Parts: sequence; C-alpha cells; structure tokens
Amino acid sequence: MSQPIIKDINHVAIIMDGNGRWAEARGLERLEGHMRGARMVKKIVRASKTLGVKNLTLYAFSTENWNRSKKEVSGLMSLFRRYILAESADMLAEGVRMKFIGQRDQLDDKLVSLMNWIEDQTADNTALQLTIALNYGGRDELVRASRKMAVAVQEGQLRPEDITEETVSSFLDTAGTPDPDLVIRTSGEYRTSNFLPWQSSYAEYAFINESWPDFTVALYEQAISNFRARERRFGSVIGK
Ligand code: IPE
Ligand code: IPE
Ligand code: MG
Repeated sequence: MSQPIIKDINHVAIIMDGNGRWAEARGLERLEGHMRGARMVKKIVRASKTLGVKNLTLYAFSTENWNRSKKEVSGLMSLFRRYILAESADMLAEGVRMKFIGQRDQLDDKLVSLMNWIEDQTADNTALQLTIALNYGGRDELVRASRKMAVAVQEGQLRPEDITEETVSSFLDTAGTPDPDLVIRTSGEYRTSNFLPWQSSYAEYAFINESWPDFTVALYEQAISNFRARERRFGSVIGK
C-alpha cells in the first residue's frame, strides 16, 4: 500500500479573535478574555511542533487596536510584557525561536526591550519559529517597506527597474519567513483585518466559529487536516 502524501504545512498564521466577546458573555472584563486567550498560545505552540508546522504567526495587536479604550490597551500591553517574562524559559526549553513583526516605535520602551531580549535569547532555536504580530498592520508594513525601498533607491543601492516581488518581500517585516500556507481566524468573523495581506495572497483560509479562548488543539488539528485535503492550484490548472 502506498503511503498517504502528507502535504507540507510550513506556516500557519492565526487571527486570535473573540477574546472580548468571550469575556463579555460571561460577565467578565474584556481583559479576562485576553488573559484566557494568552493561555491558549502555549497549547497551540506545542501542537504545532507535533503537527510538523515550522512557522506559527499569531496576530496579537493590530495597528487599529489603539482605537480601543485606554484601559484595554494598557491592559494588553502589560499582558504582553508579563507574557514574555513568564514564557521565556519555556520557549528556550521547547526550542522555539521568537520574533515580532509590526511597528515598534509606538510601543513603550520596556516592552520593546523585552521583545528584543527574547528575540536574542531564542535566536538559535530551530524547532519552531513563533512570530507575534504586535502593533502590526499589513498596510502599515507596506508603507514602511516602501519608504525603505525609496531610501535605498535614493542612496543608489537599488534601481527602480530591479524591484521585483522578491525585493518587496525582502523589505517587509516578515523577510526570510515563508508565506503562510493556512490562515485561521476564530470567532466567526469572515475578514482578514489587515493581517499579512501581501504574504497571504495564496494562503488557504479557515474560519472557525469558536472564540479564541474556546479554541482547542482538536479544532486546530481539524483545520490542518482540512487544509491537507484541499487542492492548491496557484493559478494553474493541475493540482499538485
Ligand atoms: C482579539 O480579541 C484580541 C485582540 C484584538 C487584541 P478581541 O478583543 O478582538 O475580541 P472581540 O472580537 O471583541 O470579541
Ligand atoms: C484582529 O481582530 C486583530 C487581532 C486579532 C489582534 P479585531 O477584532 O481587531 O478585528 P476587527 O475589528 O474585527 O476587524
Ligand atoms: Mg475582535
């Protein structure tokens, strides 16, 4: 009997949505939902390793999320700081390399230094790359990349006629990371909310009804096995 072909899944990206509604439905503060959501991350990191996913990107805070109440934003920022401190030992033990994408200038210095610190600490790990999109917006990323390209042209390091898709990719925050194969969004919303628009143009999408704190490893495995059953054509006719 021939072996089933297991389609490679190099990169899963997740829009962790629904924390606020999860909390509100239980009469709790929205921040409680974010804390519950943060607990889910470790389980999904472990499951990713087991499932052979090499890159996991999680959308933690968008450039539009500054429009929320001061209380929620500062609660989230302090949750990110606590999370990095609390999880660093586990990340090292699990062989996880941590990276951050998004605009860092608007974040407070303490958080940025923790982000730099954990990136350095875990730089040699190879079991899984965990990328956290924090103050990330796809349009903002493209604007920043365009500015960097313009400077390179101005300084004579790049000719406009040499700009290719690969050049653009190399100027994005995600440079060096393969494009997502599968993008999952929890909480029953059918939109992408500015998440990896350039990188996900050929990704498969899975929209899950459960909110992020109610997400489970079983739902994750299901999304991945559905992905493996789908035929990706990349604009061609014959599926590979
Ligand atoms: C996602 O959950 C987490 C962040 C955006 C920080 P939400 O906070 O968006 O939860 P809902 O969508 O309001 O339920
Ligand atoms: C996207 O969720 C951002 C994150 C999950 C961090 P949002 O809840 O902010 O997006 P919208 O408002 O539903 O589009
Ligand atoms: Mg939301």
